[in-house]
Amino acid sequence: MTQNIDSVLQENRLFPPPADFASHASIDETKLQALYQQAEDDHEGFWAKLAHEELSWNRPFSKTLNSDNAPHYRWFEDGELNVSYNCVDRHLADKADKTAIIFEGEQGDTRHITYAELHREICRFANGLKREGVECGDRVVIYMPMVPEAIIAMQACARIGAIHSVVFGGFSAEALKDRIDDAGAKLLITADGGHRGGKLIELKAAADKALDSCGDSLRKVIVLKRSAHDVAMKAGRDIWWSDAIAGVSDECAPLSVNAEHPLFLLYTSGSTGKPKGIQHSSAGYLLGTVMTMKWVFDHRPDDIYWCTADVGWITGHSYVAYGPLAVGGTIMVYEGAPTVPDTGRFWKLCEAHKVTIFYTAPTAIRALMKSGDEVPSRYDLSSIRLLGTVGEPINPEAWMWYHEVIGKERCPIVDTWWQTETGANMIAPVPGVIATKPGSCTRPLPGMALDVVDTEGNSITTPDKGGLLVIRKPWPSMLRGIWGDKARYIETYWSMFNNRFYVAGDSARRDRDGYYWIMGRIDDVLNVSGHRLGTMEVESALVAHPAVVEAAVVGRPDDIKGEAIFAYVVLKGARPQGGVDEALTNELRNWVGEQIGAIAKPSEIRYADNLPKTRSGKIMRRLLRTIASGEAITQDTSTLENEAILLQLQGKE
Ligand code: WT7
Repeated sequence: MTQNIDSVLQENRLFPPPADFASHASIDETKLQALYQQAEDDHEGFWAKLAHEELSWNRPFSKTLNSDNAPHYRWFEDGELNVSYNCVDRHLADKADKTAIIFEGEQGDTRHITYAELHREICRFANGLKREGVECGDRVVIYMPMVPEAIIAMQACARIGAIHSVVFGGFSAEALKDRIDDAGAKLLITADGGHRGGKLIELKAAADKALDSCGDSLRKVIVLKRSAHDVAMKAGRDIWWSDAIAGVSDECAPLSVNAEHPLFLLYTSGSTGKPKGIQHSSAGYLLGTVMTMKWVFDHRPDDIYWCTADVGWITGHSYVAYGPLAVGGTIMVYEGAPTVPDTGRFWKLCEAHKVTIFYTAPTAIRALMKSGDEVPSRYDLSSIRLLGTVGEPINPEAWMWYHEVIGKERCPIVDTWWQTETGANMIAPVPGVIATKPGSCTRPLPGMALDVVDTEGNSITTPDKGGLLVIRKPWPSMLRGIWGDKARYIETYWSMFNNRFYVAGDSARRDRDGYYWIMGRIDDVLNVSGHRLGTMEVESALVAHPAVVEAAVVGRPDDIKGEAIFAYVVLKGARPQGGVDEALTNELRNWVGEQIGAIAKPSEIRYADNLPKTRSGKIMRRLLRTIASGEAITQDTSTLENEAILLQLQGKE
C-alpha cells in the first residue's frame, strides 16, 4: 500500500463534479454546508434528528448517546426497532412489486426478486430458523456463495434477533471452525456448492471438515441446494434449505429489539494471529448505511445499484445486504468472478441490467484495466452515472482509467475510506459537491470527526505532513466491541490516546485543501486485494507446518493486488540447495490456503538459515520489506547476528 505515495504526492489534479451529475444531485453545496454546520454545532442532535427521520422505530428513543462507560458507547439506547422491517416491510406499501434483487449466477442464470417476494422468503426462512431452535441472541454462521439466499439468511436472522456471522466462502474449513467456536454458534447455513472462477466451490465439504473438530455449540446445519452434485448429509444435523422452510408460514412478525442489540459479528484480521469478531449494533449501524447511501451514493428510486463485494466482507454487509435495501433500492448481485468467461463480464452485466451505480475495489479495476480499453468499449455503459471504489488507496493511473474508460468522464468517482469497524463510509466525497482528486478519499462526511494527529495526539495542521488517522467523536455505526474480548477492544482502538479517540490503524496526511490521503497501515496488517490479513496470522499458519521452525511475513507492492504476501521461512532441516525447493514451496502455499483460505497463500517464499533480528530478538521487518520489494538496502545491518544471511534473504545465494 505504500508504493503509491510518491506518485500520489505529486497528484493534484482536481475534477469538479460533472455538470450533468451536479445538476441532478440530491445534495447541493447549500445542503451539504448545512449538514456540516448542524453536525458541528450539535453532534448528538444532528444524529438524533437523522435517526428519528430515517429509521422506522417500534419505540422511539429518548436518549441519543450514552458515554458513561466510554469507549463503550451506546446510541439511541432506549429505542426499539427491527432491521429487517426497516429493509423490507416498510417498503411494501408502495414498492411491493419493485425489484429488490437482480441476480445473475456465474453460469448466466438470472432471477428477479421483488420486495414482496423478498419479504416472503425472509419470513419463511426466519420461521424455518425458529423451528430449528434459533432464538434471539443466538449466533448463526453463514458460509454461502454469493446468491440471494445469503442475503435472505442475513435478513432472516435480523428479523428474529439472531446474530449472524458471515464467513467468506473463500475461507478454509480451519478458519470456519475458529469462527464457529469463537462465536459459540448454534447453527450453520451453507450450500452444496457455489460457482466461482469456473469451478465448483465445495462449501459443504469444507463445512463438514470444520464441524468434525469444532466445539459442541453447533447443533444444526441448513444446506442450500445450489449445484447439481451430491453432498453427504448427516442425519439429525443437516437439513436442506427447502425442507427447513417446508410447511412454514409466509408471515413472521419482525421482533422488536433494542437499538443496541447486536446485529452481526464479522471477523477481521488484526496484528495478532487471532481474527477478531467485530460486533455491530442494530440502529446505529443501519443509520450509518442509510445516510451514506444518500450522501455518498446519491441513491434515487430508479437506481440499479451494484456493489461487487461478497457478503463475506463488511462492504457486502453495508452496501449489499443492508444499506441499499433500507433505502428501498434495487441491487444487482453477481455470484462469480469478474473474469468468467472473460474480462468483459462486469461490463456485460452493467449493460444487461442497466446498472446506474457501480462500486468496486481498486484491485478489480487494475486487473480489468490490464486487459485493455477494447474490452469495456464493446459494451454500452451509458446507464452508469456514479462510480465508487473501496478497500485500499487507488493509484492515480487506475483512477484515471476508471474515470475515462468506464465513466466516460461523466461519472463522479466516490473513493470511500472506511473499515469493518466503522460500519459505513467515513471519508468520501459527496459527489454533486466535492471535487475529486485521483487517489484521495477527499473529506470526512458530516458527523464523522476524523483527524490526523501526531504521536502525542495533537492535530497536524501542516499540509502534507503524515500522522495517525483517528476519529475524535463516537459515531452511530461504530463497532460496539470485539466479541468476547473487551480488553482487546480497548487495547486495539483506544488505549494509544487514553481512550480519548478511536485509532484507525492507518497513517494519513491532509493536503492544503484539507483532502485526506491514506498512506497505509501502521500495524502488521496487510491489504491484499482490498482485504485485510494479519502478518501474524499467516506466520502462525506457516509455523504450524511440521517442516517450519520460524517464519516472517511482509507485504510486497503488487500491481494488481496492492500488496502480495512475501514469506521468509526457516526450516527445521537444512535450507534447500540454492534456496529452491518447488515441491515444498507448493506444499507450504497450499498449507496456508488450508489454514486460512486461498487469499492468504504467499506469492513468494524464500528460505533462509535464520531471520534478521535485532539484539533484542525482534525481527527486522522493515529490512525484510525492503528486500521483498527488490529495493536496495539502506538500513543499517551491522547489528545483525549473521550478516551473511542477507544474501540468502535476497535470493542471491
Ligand atoms: C482498511 C479497512 C471498508 C471496506 C473494505 C476494507 C483500507 C479501505 C480505503 C480507501 C485507502 C482504504 C484502510 C482501512 N482502506 N478503504 N478508500 N482508501 N485505504 O475493509 O478489511 O476493514 O479494511 O482498508 O487501510 O483501514 P477492512
